[in-house]
Amino acid sequence: MEEPSADSATGTASEQDILAVTDRRTGQQYELPITDDTIQAMDLRGIKVNEGDFGMMPFDPGLSNTAVCRSSVCFIDGEQGILEYSGYRIEELAEHCSYMEVCYLVLNRELPNAEQLAEFEAEVRADMVMPESVMRLQNAMDPDLHPMSMLQTSLAALAGEYPEAAEVLEPEVRRQHTMRLIAMTPVIAALGFRFRTGAGPIDIRPELSYSENFLHMMLTPTGEEPNVAPAMVKAMDALLVLHADHEQNCSTNAVRAVGSSQVNPYSAVTAGAAALHGPLHGGANQKVLEMLESIEDLADVPAFLESCQSGDKRLMGFGHRVYKNYDPRAKVIGKLAGDVVDVAGPNRMLEIAQALEKTAIEDDYFTKRKLFPNVDFYSGMIYSAMGFCPRSFTVFFAVGRMVGWLAHWEEMMADVNNRIVRPRQIYTGYPRRDFVPMDQR
Ligand code: ACO
Repeated sequence: MEEPSADSATGTASEQDILAVTDRRTGQQYELPITDDTIQAMDLRGIKVNEGDFGMMPFDPGLSNTAVCRSSVCFIDGEQGILEYSGYRIEELAEHCSYMEVCYLVLNRELPNAEQLAEFEAEVRADMVMPESVMRLQNAMDPDLHPMSMLQTSLAALAGEYPEAAEVLEPEVRRQHTMRLIAMTPVIAALGFRFRTGAGPIDIRPELSYSENFLHMMLTPTGEEPNVAPAMVKAMDALLVLHADHEQNCSTNAVRAVGSSQVNPYSAVTAGAAALHGPLHGGANQKVLEMLESIEDLADVPAFLESCQSGDKRLMGFGHRVYKNYDPRAKVIGKLAGDVVDVAGPNRMLEIAQALEKTAIEDDYFTKRKLFPNVDFYSGMIYSAMGFCPRSFTVFFAVGRMVGWLAHWEEMMADVNNRIVRPRQIYTGYPRRDFVPMDQR
């Protein structure tokens, strides 16, 4: 019986927690320790045909069944449709907590008391400024540039504004720039929005909450007093809470992968924003609205769903890698959308979305594949009812998710076992061959 060497084993396995493997190529038997229902991928390396053999690797292209870290930020049970931040259910947090409370929770794993919250809010508010250099950069950009590209460019530029952020092994430096990014992202997003809509710059108001300031900075005409409807502030705050974290999703994984090179946090979160922009991830909220706009009549819903089944179209805002049940965020947002949109009277898009949902969840194609509405299915409708155009939606997602990206980045940077992310491949190219000079090709 061979015992492959365990690399970076961080848990302890009892005697029963062993996976016994027989390699039929050699007849050899191996015992792989099991901790937390996982085996160490490096343990597979000891399974070899002969001494010169590289050893086995797991093959998992979309990382569908690979745990890349231990994390205490957020828990998801995809089968049951459960999402918790530090043990608190997302439904309760969305109903009872402000986004600032949730940011504190995501970063510190505990809800703040009143004093801690006031201190946290004051620190964030003090950093809600737009550096001159980023303002100049935004003004130099084409106003037609996608708002997510504008956000990515601005976030990347902050690395130049704060070169001291490169000291990523210093916990206090990480904390300072984490707070700064949470504070500045809505400012960058809002001023980008003003720039695109031709409105002049505006300052935050110290008496307003985070979400109020975010909306005020986007919507208040220059020179006027802030006057954002409380219902809108409440909805935006709840949406930010619902988007704050979602464990190892595509963009968080991008932040971790890039951050593992010990680059500054501004570059790491720029990678997160780039990943979020994709239509299969956060960019889906824009695509959902475009899809709903393209369906002219309720009577067209069955034909549209058929085109999704034949592969011609994709039902945007449906399906999830982890949830094989209702995404709990979609349930909260669906209700919120009903409340917000109802105020403005009957809404064709909401009706079409509801018809799509109702028909899809009773249809064999979708039930067999366990496809349900995800967080992006109804969120765009709320942003749209607030008066924002679909191109801006993913930026709102990024504002909310910034804290999650940073909590995971911090967790990774504080972990002494952290190593640069460097996956393997199965090479499928040519074997070695002789070089061919240019004149003989
Ligand atoms: N519409 C139609 N069919 C779908 C959809 C959909 N939205 N999603 C998945 N399927 C089908 C696939 O075609 C596949 O069918 P098959 O087994 O016959 O080949 C099956 O369901 C499994 O789907 P996968 O693509 O393997 O699922 P995966 O986990 O790789 O992808 C994803 C998940 C990307 C979210 C996918 O469901 C999707 O593209 N959804 C639409 C885009 C979207 O809403 N993205 C936002 C996700 S939430 C977030 O990131 C914030």
